[in-house]
Amino acid sequence: MPPVAFVFDAYGTLFDVHSVAALAEQLAPGNGAALSRLWRTKQLEYTWLQSLMATSRFPREDFAALTAHALDYAISALILPLDGEARLQLLDAYQRLAPFPGTRDVLAALAPRPRWILSNGTRAMLEPLARSTGLEDVLDGIISVDEVDIYKPSPRVYQLAVDRLGVPPATIGFVSSNGWDAAGANAFGFTTFWINRDGVPTERHAPGPDFVLGSLRELLPLVTS
Ligand code: LAC
Repeated sequence: MPPVAFVFDAYGTLFDVHSVAALAEQLAPGNGAALSRLWRTKQLEYTWLQSLMATSRFPREDFAALTAHALDYAISALILPLDGEARLQLLDAYQRLAPFPGTRDVLAALAPRPRWILSNGTRAMLEPLARSTGLEDVLDGIISVDEVDIYKPSPRVYQLAVDRLGVPPATIGFVSSNGWDAAGANAFGFTTFWINRDGVPTERHAPGPDFVLGSLRELLPLVTS
């Protein structure tokens, strides 16, 4: 049975987080790709750490704050001579990430089935990005983890989509290029589509995804009958 609704991860799935690499390369020649990679790695690590650590004394910070902390770590770890202005330019570029090619067409083709984003990002980050990239009008809505104050892959986050859509988890097609996110969604009970653009191995800590795709475009033949 094809899914009755679709839920998409945002960063890395619809929007290319490494589209900041060109600016990073301009600001730190020879280090753009490494900076972009380490920035993303630390950003995700911090989401998992703060989800585990959060207390009333040390509450979870939002994704914008963790994105800035992760950039600071990456600049420091790579010993890059970037000043405050360069740092601001990089953070600003994160607000203008490019969608992967074909994203808009794929989302448009899935209508009239509901298409939602479920992301670690804040609404203040995601809404302008969806608007400026033209994806806003091919999406039915955006859900942020901020509603449950914990990051993916907490089942509380995935439950948000079930509550919003009002259909059983297995009837929801969850699409993510983050293997750990697809694994979390699969353990939760969604029908999962993992976009493995880089051909990396399947995560081993959880059940594998239902479908493995090389790009977002490969979703359409699988879910249209
Ligand atoms: C998100 C992160 C996982 O958009 O990329 O939720």
